[in-house]
Amino acid sequence: TRGLATRRVGGRVVCLKETDSTNSVAFRMAEDGAVEGTVVIADTQSAGKGRLGRVWLSPPGVNLYCSVVLRPPISPVAACQLTFLSVVAVARAIERVTTLSPQIKWPNDILVDGKKVAGLLNEMNAETEKVNFVVLGIGVNLNMRLGQLGSTLRHPATSLLEASGQPVQRVGFTRALLEELDVLYDRFLVEGEAPIRAEWLERSAIGGRRVKVSSGDREFRGTVQGVDAFGALLVQPEQGPLETVLSGDVTLLDR
Ligand code: BTN
Repeated sequence: TRGLATRRVGGRVVCLKETDSTNSVAFRMAEDGAVEGTVVIADTQSAGKGRLGRVWLSPPGVNLYCSVVLRPPISPVAACQLTFLSVVAVARAIERVTTLSPQIKWPNDILVDGKKVAGLLNEMNAETEKVNFVVLGIGVNLNMRLGQLGSTLRHPATSLLEASGQPVQRVGFTRALLEELDVLYDRFLVEGEAPIRAEWLERSAIGGRRVKVSSGDREFRGTVQGVDAFGALLVQPEQGPLETVLSGDVTLLDR
């Protein structure tokens, strides 16, 4: 972390060879009082956590698995806004170290060439009125070779190496990511989520596109109108009123 040009994020960085999940480690450290900006990075995870109880593939040496502890003075309902920060930070970091053009897919995927290269999982500890801490979990496929496997996954996946043909230096990428996250967090504390949400929307692969939404046991098709201040997706179905989708999966349909 020498020379990390940040104010808060990465003030303390803990690097582990192997752990169950960097999110779980960061969560426990935060419960024990870890300062805001504490970062946990692991070379490999034996039980990497994905969204919706899924497993996050975490082979050793090739990718980035990290978790950041933040203590924003906000209410629990506003905490989902932090997802805008980590998503935008990852997209900016990819642009800094590669020539790729990452796209954002709601709620928290980053795609390159239409395939997933990164995933985010936030976990929170809060009281009714205030957040104690949030753990931002960030997984980025840097140099993993997925080959055929990539297209058999539930969400077709790739890595920066596969997409660009160039290996990505893990330390350099991590530095770029933590610096971008720090800048965005600073801005969030001063100006709120609006400017970051605006960048999110600009970068999103789904604005104005037709999608299939799967939310719980419901499934419907519609056109994406945008995302609200709490990260909910606004979708206009073919018939009926505008839908506010709080959680679930969206699949792009053909134009
Ligand atoms: C997703 O399902 O898209 C979210 C994946 C989040 C993976 C990252 S890897 C670092 C951190 N630790 C975990 O156990 N999960 C997150």
